Amino acid sequence: MLDALKDELLSLVNAAADLPALDEVRVNALGKKGRITGFMKELGGLSPDERKERGQALNALKDEIAAALDARKAELAAAHMKARLEAERLDVTLPVRPETEGRIHPITQTMDEMVAIFAEMGFSVAEGPDIEDDFHNFTALNFPPGHPARDMHDTFYLPDAGDKRMLLRTHTSPVQVRTMLNSKPPIRIIAPGRTYRSDYDMTHTPMFHQIEGLVIDEATNMGHLKGCLVEFCRAFFDVDDLPLRFRPSFFPFTEPSAEVDIGCLRKGGELKLGNYGDWLEILGCGMVHPNVLEACGIDSTKYQGFAFGMGVERVAMLKYGIPDLRTFFEADLRWLKHYGFVPLDIPNIAHGLTR
Ligand code: PHE
Repeated sequence: MLDALKDELLSLVNAAADLPALDEVRVNALGKKGRITGFMKELGGLSPDERKERGQALNALKDEIAAALDARKAELAAAHMKARLEAERLDVTLPVRPETEGRIHPITQTMDEMVAIFAEMGFSVAEGPDIEDDFHNFTALNFPPGHPARDMHDTFYLPDAGDKRMLLRTHTSPVQVRTMLNSKPPIRIIAPGRTYRSDYDMTHTPMFHQIEGLVIDEATNMGHLKGCLVEFCRAFFDVDDLPLRFRPSFFPFTEPSAEVDIGCLRKGGELKLGNYGDWLEILGCGMVHPNVLEACGIDSTKYQGFAFGMGVERVAMLKYGIPDLRTFFEADLRWLKHYGFVPLDIPNIAHGLTR
């Protein structure tokens, strides 16, 4: 009788067409209410001799069916995998498409290039939030409350939320404050990021980018500032003898302050960089004001340093001959295709930044 059951179960196992069907066979044979299990339950009513013999036979049957189930399961799983591999087949020998569609935005590219140059000089990258408070954006930077210099910035204020009025940072200089409050000198950071001012015309967009630099140490002086910026500009614009001119200026957070011009030539609506006698302003800089150091918990009798801030769009336009600032943010794919950069062509000093 068990032989008949065995044949029947084995043929059911082999006939199972897929894994769920096979599992059904398993439950019917070996599950709690399965047929073999049913016979097992009857063993208790037999005499000891009969029980031993029948028990051994049932165990053998059970093992055999379990083994058949396992074998069939492996078979079905292999067939399933084979079918899937067939269906999801991919010819990896096909050549890559000749051109990738995506482009790196010139702003991203320009910031990556700047970071690559400053990283080589030993700067690390610091970041701060776009939504700032008055303290970090102004007060700690030596803009006293009510000071007219605050009006120079056309600030976007957020709706007043009690005692702390938040704003969209008008420059990357608040990252100087955050860095000085959170770390100890020597400090050598650059901070690239978005900045905001309520302004819109040919040369201004309400959102733009800056890169900030900050160096604080015991003997840092204006000569270091000059050397650092000369070195940077020559590497960035790839003009070995690019002249730089430092003009006295004013920022509340630096003393002395300067604006930096680079040499250029304007001819027939074109602009060429180099030693031609004409000048173009590209950045602001200076020695960090003692009031700023003190507001950030740094002993101004022991430490001093320099800072600079540069508009990213401005230098990107200069370097890559992009005529209109506003086009940067129009998200026009044709523009991006023309001015954008191929992904993975990552800026690196050793390869040369401009290829
Ligand atoms: N934060 C200044 C601006 O946005 C630039 C600057 C930075 C000047 C650091 C001096 C030092 O105009």
